[in-house]
This record gives sequence, C-alpha cells and structure tokens, in this order.
Amino acid sequence: MVFVDGVRTPFGRAGEKGQYWGTRADDLIVKAMIGLLERNPSLPKGRVDDVAIAATTQTGDQGLTLGRTAAILAGLPLSVPGYAIDRMCAGAMTAATAVAGGIAFGAYDVAIAGGVEHMGRHPMGFDADPNPRFLAEKLVSPDALNMGNTAERLHDRFPALTKERADRYGMRSQQKVAAAYEAGKIQPDLVPVAIRSESGWGLATRDEGMRPETTMEGLAALKTPFRPHGRVTAGNSSPLTDGATVSLLASSAAAKELGLSSKMRMVSFAFAGVAPEVMGIGPIPSTEKALKKAGLTIDDIGLFELNEAFSVQVLSLLDHFGIDDEDARVNPWGGAIAIGHPLASSGVRLMIQLAAQFAERPDVRYGLTAMCVGLGQGGSVIWENPHFDGKKK
Ligand SMILES: CC(C)(COP(=O)(O)OP(=O)(O)OC[C@H]1O[C@@H](n2cnc3c(N)ncnc32)[C@H](O)[C@@H]1OP(=O)(O)O)[C@@H](O)C(=O)NCCC(=O)NCCS
Repeated sequence: MVFVDGVRTPFGRAGEKGQYWGTRADDLIVKAMIGLLERNPSLPKGRVDDVAIAATTQTGDQGLTLGRTAAILAGLPLSVPGYAIDRMCAGAMTAATAVAGGIAFGAYDVAIAGGVEHMGRHPMGFDADPNPRFLAEKLVSPDALNMGNTAERLHDRFPALTKERADRYGMRSQQKVAAAYEAGKIQPDLVPVAIRSESGWGLATRDEGMRPETTMEGLAALKTPFRPHGRVTAGNSSPLTDGATVSLLASSAAAKELGLSSKMRMVSFAFAGVAPEVMGIGPIPSTEKALKKAGLTIDDIGLFELNEAFSVQVLSLLDHFGIDDEDARVNPWGGAIAIGHPLASSGVRLMIQLAAQFAERPDVRYGLTAMCVGLGQGGSVIWENPHFDGKKK
C-alpha cells in the first residue's frame, strides 16, 4: 500500500481578513483534487475506486457527502464514488487509513483521501449540540469541550512542561517553517488558489499564518485566552485556519501498472482513546500501538511529523518517549503552529511533508505522522521510505 502523491492548498488565516473568506470550502478541496490529478496524468480518472474526504463540520459548503460532491466538481467520471469522513482533527488521516484498509483488503486499487476545514466559515463547535449526559453524568469534564482548556490541563498535569518550553517550541516552529520556505521545500506541494476579495481577484500561493518575526519576549507578553494566568497563548497554539489537503493512495501493484510514483509505503496505523480533558496526549498510546503492530520501537523512527495543535501537546509526546525538544528528527520543516491547522485536513498535510523529506533522506527508513484529536483520541501512521539506501547516518 503506497502513498503515491499528495498536495494541498496554501493555508489561510480564518476570518474576515483571511485569504479564503470569499472562497467556498468545497472549492478548496476541489482545487486541491484537480491539482493532484494534474500532477499524476498517467492515472486514468476512471480507475479511482473511491474518494474519502473529511471535514469536522459537515454542513453547508462542507456538507452533502464531500467525497462525492468534490469528485464530481473535480471532473472525475460519474462512475467514481465518494463519501465523507469525520474524526475531527484526524479526519484526513482517517480518510487515508480507511482507504488504505480498502486497498489492503483488495477492494480498491487506487483511492483518493483528503480533508478540508474552513474554520472561518465553520467556527469550531458551531451548532454542535453535545448530549447533556456528557456533563450531567460527568462522563467528560467541561474542559474536554474546549481544546485550549485541554492544553492548559496538560500544563497542570506535567509540571515539567513549562510555558517557557511551550513558547520556545512555538518560536522554533515559526523559524523552521520560515527556513523551509526560504529553501523552497514547502512550495512544490502547494496548489495555488484563485481568490476573490473586495480588491478584486488574486492568487493564494503561500500559507498566510506564518509569523517568522516571533521572539520569546513577544510570546511572553501574549494573553492567555483560555484561563487567567494560564500558559496557552496564540503563540504556542495552532491558529484558526482554512485549507484543504488531498492524497492519492494505491496498491503497490496498481502504482506499478499505472506508472505512478511510490513516495511512501504504509507500514501500520493505529488510533487510541484517552481522557477527553487531556486529549493532547492521545498520540502517545496511538504511537505505541502503531509501533507494536509494526514490530518497531521509537528508536527506529528517523523522522517525525507531529501535528502541533499546541506546543504543550507535542512536548508531552516528546517527554514520554525521551526525545529532546530540539531533536532534529522532529518536524524539521516546522509545523501547524506556523503553517496552521485546518482541523480535518491536517493529517494529510503531515503525510505530504513527510513524503517530501523521505525523498531527500535516503538514510531514513521509517517516519511517523501523528496527531491528537478532540474528545480524547490520537492517531498515528508509520511509513517506510522507498528511497532508503540501507545506510543509516
Ligand atoms: C489561541 C487562539 C484563541 C488565538 O486566537 P486569536 O486571538 O484570534 O489569535 P490572533 O492571531 O488574533 O492572535 C492574538 C494576538 O497574539 C498575537 N500573536 C499571535 N501569535 C504571535 C506570535 N507568534 N508572536 C507575537 N504575537 C503573536 C497576535 O498578533 C494578536 O495580537 P493582537 O491581539 O495585538 O492583535 C486561537 O488561535 C485558537 O483557538 N487556537 C487553537 C485552535 C484549536 O483549538 N485547534 C484545534 C486543536 S485540537
């Protein structure tokens, strides 16, 4: 089972001032899908066996079973089916693992998996109606329903995870993304999007949320929106973001037959549940499960692409596995704190970034994509590098 290719839209800041305020969510995923198909012209469009597209809020322009609507709008033949997926932040990751399961079972040869979230048009939790039993029967803590509060809870639980460490991690993410942009690492997998604003037509070509000028002094002065005198700020959290990602997955045999590339081989995946009020630690058990399934240990992982929902949440995983905050294997091109985190699309963004690094790193055999998920879950996928040359650095 291979990851053939993946692309995404540049990510935009959510809200009225963001580049996608005037753009529909479904148009973002359609644009990404067209870009993916154009980059893989040897794929006969009718050979796509299914299209799984995730969104967390599945109403309005993110409703109507997105995989099907996006497939039609992207010009796939009407014979190609599609469906929608939701596992909140791990939507696109779940889309990829769901179709991977179908490929492994032999039901599919080739499938498309991705996700979209227009957090400007669909604010987090908008119109959600959690069952009153959750709180009345104390099934979850009230903090569980606000992601920022769950991050504050991690600071409470692990005193070693200080605000200073979280801020430094956030600043480093900004610096690493700026350096990756400077070196032209990120741009090749971006599909430019035509955008309309009051000043006329334009073209979105870059992630809009980056703050390369970030300093520790600037971060120290930021408000803590989730709790008075808290530790979680806009500088050590992923920002509210609009964007879409999409990937092509195939059996190794189909990829060979159709002349498609194999950028990564899926080794194992796992999802796991934790207490919802500390959802940020979710990737710890899911990673342990995925490693066990693969017969690997954490030391076998040469590159980590961890979704940075919050600094503290990534740091909790690093501490658990005894990895240094500045370890060069972790998010070498930065992460969601700078790039943004359009919820259900981010899982495939991690895969796109890992695939690009695999191509440059024949000394690395295995990589991990992992992320936390609202209501207390984690998702992890382990990948093998087809470019591995047998010589570890
Ligand atoms: C943290 C959060 C509430 C901040 O929202 P916001 O206030 O709209 O964010 P902004 O971008 O306006 O930033 C707030 C302020 O911090 C400043 N700021 C943000 N990042 C900064 C940085 N790296 N350096 C310096 N200043 C920064 C902004 O300039 C802004 O300043 P201003 O108030 O003077 O204009 C929001 O980003 C959030 O909810 N993030 C988490 C999203 C989430 O839960 N995702 C799911 C994860 S599971």
